[in-house]
Amino acid sequence: MRTAAEHGHPQTRQVPAVALEQVSKTYPGGVRALDEVSLTVEPGTFLAVMGPSGSGKSTLMHCAAGLDTPTSGNVSIGGTEIGRLNETRRSELRRERVGFVFQSYNLVPSLSIADNITLPLRLAGKAPDRDWVQTLVERVGLAGRLARRPAELSGGQQQRAAIARALVTKPAVVFGDEPTGALDLRTAREVLDLLRDLVDALGQTVVMVTHDPAAAARADLALVMADGRVVDALEKPTATELAHRITTLEME
Ligand SMILES: Nc1ncnc2c1ncn2[C@@H]1O[C@H](COP(=O)(O)OP(=O)(O)OP(=O)(O)O)[C@@H](O)[C@H]1O
Ligand SMILES: [Mg+2]
Repeated sequence: MRTAAEHGHPQTRQVPAVALEQVSKTYPGGVRALDEVSLTVEPGTFLAVMGPSGSGKSTLMHCAAGLDTPTSGNVSIGGTEIGRLNETRRSELRRERVGFVFQSYNLVPSLSIADNITLPLRLAGKAPDRDWVQTLVERVGLAGRLARRPAELSGGQQQRAAIARALVTKPAVVFGDEPTGALDLRTAREVLDLLRDLVDALGQTVVMVTHDPAAAARADLALVMADGRVVDALEKPTATELAHRITTLEME
């Protein structure tokens, strides 16, 4: 698969991996967590979402992933507008077109690493594509550890298994909410290297919420949120730029 940068025809518009059109979310009780957010995530790109606590990052991710329903506006995943789907089709889309990576790995303790990685396929009633599973297992560096249980792996290895699981259905997009939040600096860097590699080598689209400017600096584009809006979009940002921008917002 080619990466987005190699698709040399700017006039042929690709179907966005994710698109939000004027998405707002007001929680019961009146908190407006998202305020008319519009954005497009191009396929094969790595997007980071930053912003102070409470700025709406998780809400944005949940709405973009079809886990939560916006109060108004439209969300499309891989060209499918999710607001038009019934609940059955929507959970099917989530299962097959969206991958998730959480801070806490969320592996099933009783299953082997191999079975954890292929679980989304079994849940979807699909036979594993052996070549693809093999490619993923090698990319995430777990080839020798497939028979182990999650508790027999380090945190970084567990997160790499969770990343392989997130990619096993070849989703249009993988979302991560603080995927490196529970890891020490060196392990976090390894996981970020892996995410970067999956974008560059496999053309995977990744959207990652993070508080860490060094993590966001690995993305192609970093969005900065404040009060439910996207207030900045920094291309190929440096950690210093991002740290400065976030500190300024937190002082406002
Ligand atoms: N289920 C909910 N019910 C009511 N209000 C909520 C709910 N979830 C979030 N909020 C509110 O919506 C706003 C945005 O929350 P959100 O969790 O999206 O922020 P965040 O940027 O992810 O913050 P953090 O960095 O702390 O994870 C906050 O004011 C929060 O209190
Ligand atoms: Mg959050």
